[in-house]
Amino acid sequence: MQRPIARITGLGVYVPSHIVTNQDFAARLETSDQWIVERTGIRERRFAGTDETVATMALQATAPALAQAGLTPMDLGAIIVATATPDRTLPSTACYLQASLGAEAAATFDIAAACSGFIYGLTVAEGLIASGQAQHVLVVGGEKLSSITDDQDRSTAILFGDGVGVVVVSATSGGPQGRGILSSFIKSDGRLASLLYIPSGGTLDPISDKVVRERTHYMKMAGREVFKHAVLTMAEACDEAVRRAGVRMDEIDLLVPHQANVRIIDALARHASIPMEKVVITVDRYGNTSAASIPMALGDAVATGRLTPGKLVLLVAFGAGFTWGSAVVRW
Ligand code: UT7
Repeated sequence: MQRPIARITGLGVYVPSHIVTNQDFAARLETSDQWIVERTGIRERRFAGTDETVATMALQATAPALAQAGLTPMDLGAIIVATATPDRTLPSTACYLQASLGAEAAATFDIAAACSGFIYGLTVAEGLIASGQAQHVLVVGGEKLSSITDDQDRSTAILFGDGVGVVVVSATSGGPQGRGILSSFIKSDGRLASLLYIPSGGTLDPISDKVVRERTHYMKMAGREVFKHAVLTMAEACDEAVRRAGVRMDEIDLLVPHQANVRIIDALARHASIPMEKVVITVDRYGNTSAASIPMALGDAVATGRLTPGKLVLLVAFGAGFTWGSAVVRW
């Protein structure tokens, strides 16, 4: 029997309404709009409200995605939430989303692969579909990074934002244009974990007065090191996804990279010989939203008419772990 093809049949995005500008940081930290724009390309980012979580934001983004796919919550066989900022450490954020959706037929779990989480989620969804475990899988990339960044640390505070993007991945028998996920690739190197991590708050060093005083429950990053690895690793991942899909790099219509820094994206596009007019950039408006950045950028590309059915899209991400991944999708 022929294996079903996994295709993205619905997409939804939720962007919190509160805008935080570079000037807002410059007013209380030793930084400037000029430094932030020149070194990162970020002009503003969104912060979720105190009553908003990854699950509540995901609920908002899921409604249009299901409508586009022509499905109801009960059609979902699995819900995967990729996040580094779960609502609670137990149970998974996917469980809360399931309950608020009323998606009782679904198996639910979270994926911890940091900024690469959406690609990991897509890959797992593809596997669930190929093995016949599920017909329709909701893959959420969602973050409330404002809750784990130290607002007193200028080297990280200015980088991150909140938001959610979701896709519905469905089993199809293909189609005249061969639409669907043509390839995916995920990999990690745990030896580099200490370059981007949260030292405390887990079982190794639980929350205590000392932790809070020393602010070690916030994210720490060796920015320059991460930058270097991000460019080289994502360039290799792009090559791998394209090779596995059996297409050529010059056939790619749109590159949708993880949005961490516009300089990383520039360098990556150069390495992959993809002209910048084929690259989607949202980091200027949303900052780095980790697992949410790729589905949010896909939403942006659809909304602006750059991503239409039949287009060949290359997705690529890199994040803490280190983790990385890529995929080629015929939209
Ligand atoms: O999502 C996946 C994981 N994350 C990433 O991919 C992020 C990767 N890294 C980066 O994007 C960049 O490394 C950063 C944007 C984080 C930093 O840019 P950089 O050009 O690598 O700067 P740097 O860390 O080498 O720091 C250069 C200088 C330092 O001052 P000195 O030592 O030269 O005097 C920093 O203290 O810039 C200083 N600096 C700042 N100055 C003004 C660091 N942050 C700021 C700031 N404002 N916000």
